[in-house]
Amino acid sequence: MLSLIPLYSAIQLCVDNLAMKPMNTTELLIDLPGVIDSRGELCFLQYPDQLPFQVNRVYYLYNVGTGMQRGAHAHRELQQVMIALNGAFDVLLDDGTSRNTIHLDSCYTGLLINKMVWREMANFTPGAICLVLASMRYDESDYIRNYNDFLAAARDAQQ
Ligand code: TYD
Repeated sequence: MLSLIPLYSAIQLCVDNLAMKPMNTTELLIDLPGVIDSRGELCFLQYPDQLPFQVNRVYYLYNVGTGMQRGAHAHRELQQVMIALNGAFDVLLDDGTSRNTIHLDSCYTGLLINKMVWREMANFTPGAICLVLASMRYDESDYIRNYNDFLAAARDAQQ
């Protein structure tokens, strides 16, 4: 009987994924102002104009190997803004009831990732740099790294 539980969970996950609506991502994309002159380009974001939170941490992903994926987790409280500083990559977002994949390829676009959103980053081009501005300091207890746990927590939060 016990051995049927993982099978049941896997089937339930497939059913859940098939039922997912497309996520509306227009409000998540932040246009970043640029100052362009003969010396080059400058791009900025500041709280609260382009950033909905004050930044407590900055990190970046680079040298991501061909075919490698990053992310595959959600955060209970953390908010983030992600920018493709160089190159391009795809970000899958999933809030437990809807999902969408966004292609980031411009340092003039920030992607807001709210709390309780599962994210997976993939298809990094060679030399791609993913800059992340985060609302909180690093806290492993804020992560949800198992997708089934995330779905259960997202459904609890939406009730
Ligand atoms: P993780 O957030 O899982 O990376 P990704 O989502 O890009 O795949 O972090 C990878 C490792 O780095 C993990 O051991 C935690 C550590 N880490 C920090 O120590 N501080 C940080 O600010 C971040 C983002 C990660």
